[in-house]
Amino acid sequence: MLIKTSKTYSPIGVFDSGYGGLTILKELVNYLPQYDYLYFGDNARAPYGSRSFETVYEYTLECVKALFNEGCELVILACNTASAKALRTIQQKDLPLIDASKRVLGVIRPTAEIAGNYTTTKEVGVFATPGTVTSKSYIMEMENFFPDVKIYQEACPMWVPLIENNELDGVGADYFVSKYVGQLMAQSDRIDTIILGCTHYPLLKPLIEKHIPEKIQLLTQGAIVANSLKDYLIRHPKMEEGISKNNQRKFITTDSAYIFDKQASLFFGQDVKSTFLSL
Ligand code: DGL
Repeated sequence: MLIKTSKTYSPIGVFDSGYGGLTILKELVNYLPQYDYLYFGDNARAPYGSRSFETVYEYTLECVKALFNEGCELVILACNTASAKALRTIQQKDLPLIDASKRVLGVIRPTAEIAGNYTTTKEVGVFATPGTVTSKSYIMEMENFFPDVKIYQEACPMWVPLIENNELDGVGADYFVSKYVGQLMAQSDRIDTIILGCTHYPLLKPLIEKHIPEKIQLLTQGAIVANSLKDYLIRHPKMEEGISKNNQRKFITTDSAYIFDKQASLFFGQDVKSTFLSL
C-alpha cells in the first residue's frame, strides 16, 4: 500500500486514464475545498479512448480497487471513456461484491442532466473519444432528461494524444481541431451547444473556439461535476460525514511521478507532487 491509510484519511478518489481528470479535480477543489482528494492517473496505460470495452472496464476496475485500498469510500470516474464503458458494470456487478457501502460516480450523467438547458435549437453536439462515441452513452443519457434534444457526436481520436504530448500549439493540433469541428458541423448547422465530452478537451477550448461559429457555446464539465457532487453529498449525509476534511490533495500515477509532476500543472493550474503506484 502506498499511502498510509488511517480511519481519519478517507479522501474522495478522482480517477482518469491520465491527466484529463485534473480539469475536473481543479473545479472540485474550487467548489468543495474542505474535502481531501486523492487523484489517480493511469498514465502508464493511457489513452483509454480507442481501447475495447473489456480493456477499459478491466483497467478502470483495477484502479477503482486501488483507490478503495487507499481509503476512498467514494470514487469519481473523471473520465468520460471510463464512465461510458465501465461505470455501469462496476456499480451493478462489482460494488455489491467488493463493498456495497462504497460508491462510484461518473461524469456523463451529470453533464447530460443539464446540457439540454443550454440549447434553443434543440440540437447539441458532443466531441468525445471513439470509445465514448461508440458507447452512445451521451445519446442514451440525454434521451432520459431531454427527449426533445437531438445529439450529434464526433469522435476525436487525435485530440488526447496531441494534448498528452504537449502539442497544443503546433500545426497538428490546429489541423485536427479544424478537421473534427468541420465534420461535426457538417452533420447539422443548427447545433448551438457543444459538450466537450472528454476531460482532456478543456485544454483545447481556445483552439476549438477559433474554429467553431461564434453562436455556439462550449460546455466543459468541471463546474458541472462539482455542482453535481455538492448536491449528491447533501443528499447522502452519511457518505459526506465519512469523507476526511483536511484540505489535502494527493496524486498517484502508474507511470513516472517525475513526468506526471511536469505535465500536471498544465491541467490542474497548480504544481503537484505525485507518487508512483505499481498495480
Ligand atoms: N479523459 C478521458 C475522457 O474523459 C479520455 C482520455 C483517454 O483517451 O484516455 O474520456
